Formats: sequence, structure tokens, C-alpha cells
Amino acid sequence: MLNSEPTRRDFLKTGSALSLGAVALGSLSKGVFAADGDDTIRVGLVGCGGRGSGAAAQALSTEGNVKLVAMGDAFADQVESSLNGIKSQLKDRADRVDVDEDHKFAGFDAYQQVINSDVDLVILATPPGFRPIHFEAAIAAGKHVFMEKPVATDAVGVRKVLAAAAEAKAKNLKVGVGLQRHHEEKYLETIKRIKDGEIGDIRALRVYWNGGGVWDPRKTREEVSGEMEYQMRNWYYYNWLCGDHICEQHIHNLDVGNWIKDAYPVTCHGMGGRQVRTDKKYGEIFDHFAVEYTYADGTKMFSQCRHIHNCWNAVTEHAIGSTGVADVHGGKLYKGLAEAKENETYRWRNKDAKNPYQVEHDDLFRAIRENTSYNEAENGAYSTLTSIMGRMATYSGKEVSWEDALNSQISLMPEEFSWEATPPVVPLPDGSYPIPTPGVTRAV
Ligand SMILES: NC(=O)c1ccc[n+]([C@@H]2O[C@H](COP(=O)([O-])OP(=O)(O)OC[C@H]3O[C@@H](n4cnc5c(N)ncnc54)[C@H](O)[C@@H]3O)[C@@H](O)[C@H]2O)c1
Repeated sequence: MLNSEPTRRDFLKTGSALSLGAVALGSLSKGVFAADGDDTIRVGLVGCGGRGSGAAAQALSTEGNVKLVAMGDAFADQVESSLNGIKSQLKDRADRVDVDEDHKFAGFDAYQQVINSDVDLVILATPPGFRPIHFEAAIAAGKHVFMEKPVATDAVGVRKVLAAAAEAKAKNLKVGVGLQRHHEEKYLETIKRIKDGEIGDIRALRVYWNGGGVWDPRKTREEVSGEMEYQMRNWYYYNWLCGDHICEQHIHNLDVGNWIKDAYPVTCHGMGGRQVRTDKKYGEIFDHFAVEYTYADGTKMFSQCRHIHNCWNAVTEHAIGSTGVADVHGGKLYKGLAEAKENETYRWRNKDAKNPYQVEHDDLFRAIRENTSYNEAENGAYSTLTSIMGRMATYSGKEVSWEDALNSQISLMPEEFSWEATPPVVPLPDGSYPIPTPGVTRAV
């Protein structure tokens, strides 16, 4: 490039303002962006499903000029339905969607085409198996990122995300991760009080994602073109794509435990299986897990997640302290041991509290505009590893250490990505999939 003057676009891409005079005056400001008359943050969406569409609408609802300019999905039909969904969510701001036909991409390389479009930030909201590949490519190309949790399904992916997170820091790129409890006033207030000692020293944690489960498989074999499409359409039930529900959903609650402890567990053991959701259309994942994690100081985190209808349900986190207990999800603190009304010492209340899904985008976009440091990728990777470690322990029936989990060489991902390629798991002759067997399965 003959002209070595950085362009506004370079600014937004890399935040590489350190070489610019503006930085000598302090942090980047909106005024810096506006200097050449355009402060628009151009967004690309990769993974046009439910959450990707929601995240795009939230990104486009942040302050300042934002435009959605490119979209990519494995399936073209998803791009079209997402485009309509985003516009209807935005209502009078629908003009912020500006995706022409040349910037709608489908297929396994759609992510690269979105990244290669003239975008400043990419939203990564595919099934989590792809996240490490997509995140690595986005950071390599100098893009800011919002990525959904979990950020991987195996330790190989976690390490890839950690490496890209370090690169993002070095390049001054901002990264948000969809663990939105970190942006939810109720959690922020309650956890601050716990950390300030209002229930004494933390002795143990209890965390749950017990519910009826998610969507049933969306396509039958007759409706798709082969095994790869079958698994991609029904991704929740295949570990290379989803990581099992301990990883896919329960990560939220495990992450809250880590947040309260300001640490990650050093070991865990657990048990679980597939007792009710056993039909072969439900792929290879378990329907229940119970895992006991131990932190370095001996604190335990007792964790359960279940996908079975008509049972005791809870999506909550609780802390047991030396002088009281906390219902973190409920935003309540109590003296003594019982979460009873008469013991209540604090109850979070704010009927005007903001939607954390919106706040996480407000915070990320503000950091980009004001050039403040913002990188949630490392915690996202370590909380993902916490959930993967629980799955490893449950599938194998063994105790698993943090080090062994982090250094595991088992890759769940395919060698090749194409509709003709063979996925890493294939059905047995009766159409069912091999199910992990504790005591037999090697998972680390
Ligand atoms: N933070 C939260 O509370 C929250 C809530 C829901 C979902 N999520 C996360 O968002 C992610 C997506 O979940 P969802 O509910 O939107 O699923 P979804 O099935 O509705 O959407 C996923 C989309 O990704 C597409 N896709 C699959 N592989 C792709 C590839 N290689 N390249 C491009 N597109 C690909 C699918 O075709 C689909 O359109 C998951 O990681 C999930 O955990 C987070």
C-alpha cells in the first residue's frame, strides 16, 4: 500500500491506534472516528440461527452508527429467515440492516467470506464446535468479535481460543463472550456482596441447569442429503458440534461458580448417563450429569444438569458461606444455612433493570468506540474447559485434573468439512450412535 496513512477502517479493524497521534491525546474517542465523517461499525454475522439473529439485533441496537453488512450460514435458508427476523426485531431501525445479495454466504466457508467482507466486527453464533476455527480466523483478520458461549467442544479447541485470545490482546481487538450473567445487574450486585464478605468465606457452591431439554431433532434422514447434513441440522445431539448439554448450557452456571471463586477447579469427578432420552434420533449425548468440582483451596462446587421432563427443575447458582448463604440467580442473601424468608439479609430489586443480552453488546461496542481494553475470551475458554472437564469425568468415570483436561489431545472435530465428508461419529447398523460408557470410555 503506497499510502501509509491509516484509514478509519484500519482503526476499527485493529484498534491499532497506538501509532496514531490521537492516542497521544488519550483514548480513542467517538470524535476520532467521526474525523473522516464516518463512525459506523460494520457488523458481519456468522451463524444465522436463533441466537445469532438476536445478537445481531442487539448489536444493531447499541448507541452510535452500526450496520449489519454481511451474513453467513452453513445453510442458505437460515440466512434468509434470519434476515427477516432481525429486521422485524429492529422495527423502526431496520435500515441498519444493509446486506446485499453479494454479502449473503452459505456453506462451510461462509465464515471466511463474512470475515473477508469489509466488516469491523463479527458475531460468531454457530454451534460451538466451529467457534475456535471461526474465532482464530476473525482475530487473524483483525476483526473485533462477539462470540457465543461455549467457545469450543474439546480441549484442542479451547487451546486454539486461548492462543487467539492472546493474539486479540496483542492486536488491541475487543472480544465479548455470550456469558451474559457478567452483564446482568442482579448477578453483578449479588456477587459483589458475596465477594465483600456478606456471607463470610465461601465453603461450597451448588449450580444447576435442570430442565426438560431443548428442541427435538429438526430434520429426519429423509429430509436431508446425507449424514453430515443430518448432524449439522440436528447439531445439539452430536458432541463435536455441541459438546453435550453440560458444555452447551450448564457452562453458564459453572461460570458463575468460577466467577464467585475467582478461580477454576483443579479436579472433578462425576456420574451421568442417558436414561430417558434414549431414542436413536437423540444422537450420542447424555440426559443427565452430576459433577463434583474441587478448587485449589478445597472449596467444592456441586453441579447437576438434566434434560428430562417432569422432574425437579432449576437453572440457578447458590453459594454456601461461613455465616450465610446466597441464591445468586434469585439475587438474595441469607444469614445461617437456610434460604428462608426470615433469614433474608438482602434482596436485589430493580424493575427497570436492563436486558443483559443488550448490555453485553452495549459494553462491547462502547469499548470499541472508546478504545478501552475488553477481552472476555480467556474466561470464556476456561469456563468452557470447566464444562468439558466435567463431561470428560462423567463419560470416563474417572477423576480428571484441570491440567489433564487442558492438555487433552482428543479432538472431536472432523478432518474435512464438506457435505460429502464423513462426520467423526457415524451411526451403527441399527441407526443408533455409540454412547460413552463410564469405566470404559477414554475421554481425556
Ligand atoms: N448466551 C445465551 O444465553 C445463549 C442462548 C442461546 C444460544 N446460545 C448459543 O448460541 C449458539 C447458537 O445457538 P442457537 O440457539 O442460535 O442455534 P441455532 O441452531 O438456532 O443456530 C445455529 C446456526 O448456525 C448455523 N451453522 C452451523 N454450522 C455452521 C457453520 N460451520 N458455519 C456457519 N453457520 C453454521 C446453523 O445452520 C444455524 O443457522 C450456541 O453456541 C448456543 O450455545 C447462547
